Amino acid sequence: MDRLEEAAAIIRKSRNMIALTGAGVSVESGIPDFRSAGGLWDKYDPAIYASIQSFNSMPETVWKMIFEMIELTETAKPNSAHYALAELESMNFLKALITQNIDNLHQEAGSKNVIEFHGNASHLQCLRCGKEYEASGFDMSGKKIPLCSCGNILKPSVIFFGEMIPHEALSRSAFYASRADVVIVAGTSAVVYPAAAIPQQARVNGAKIIEFNIEETGLTETGTDIFIHGSAGRTLPRLVELLK
Ligand code: APR
Repeated sequence: MDRLEEAAAIIRKSRNMIALTGAGVSVESGIPDFRSAGGLWDKYDPAIYASIQSFNSMPETVWKMIFEMIELTETAKPNSAHYALAELESMNFLKALITQNIDNLHQEAGSKNVIEFHGNASHLQCLRCGKEYEASGFDMSGKKIPLCSCGNILKPSVIFFGEMIPHEALSRSAFYASRADVVIVAGTSAVVYPAAAIPQQARVNGAKIIEFNIEETGLTETGTDIFIHGSAGRTLPRLVELLK
């Protein structure tokens, strides 16, 4: 029995499977991930561009990267990895999908119960007066940095390093992780906490961890029961076929 058939046999018997995804599942949609060679953090130093301290001290600089990320995500379409995870939900295998991604591609592929652990770029918020806006009400082409009616530069509702994870995302993820009997971990380097703690939380309660990646990660050695090597756009649809 190969590893994918082994994974399918475990999933067939599961009652509370969840998934944790990262940027790797959107690479085949044309969105570079962060830490692979040529990834976003090769071009933009996260210490400069991805912390809330940097946003507060030089928002114009950080908006340069945000505009580039928005342009990448606006033209991207879901790939077969996103559709496979949506199908696992409609087949009633997948109970919740926790994603670190802000590209909305899981929702566009049809996933319903999506927990956006690092927020999303659909809203803008003013850190001075607290006002919130829909990003769609602004020109996000990069020509003009969005301003609040109070004059302050707005921040997209994505979670920067140094910011708290949205309370609802944290509590819903903990709820599902504590009950999970299987966790699919797909397309993440599993190095950013607290998202990376989710498989460990589930494993403590006896969950099986099935990892889908093109290379081993820090999780593989210590916390993965079955490692499925390959691109998620190819391996996840093959898993769905085995479960039909
Ligand atoms: N199929 C499966 N896995 C892939 C693919 C693919 N086609 N392409 C890349 N990967 C894997 C890489 O091997 C890597 O392990 O996806 C992972 C991407 O890791 P990161 O670039 O670190 O992205 P992610 O894990 O989502 O980062 C977590 O860090 O920078 C912050 O907020 C940002 O949400 C992000 C968080």
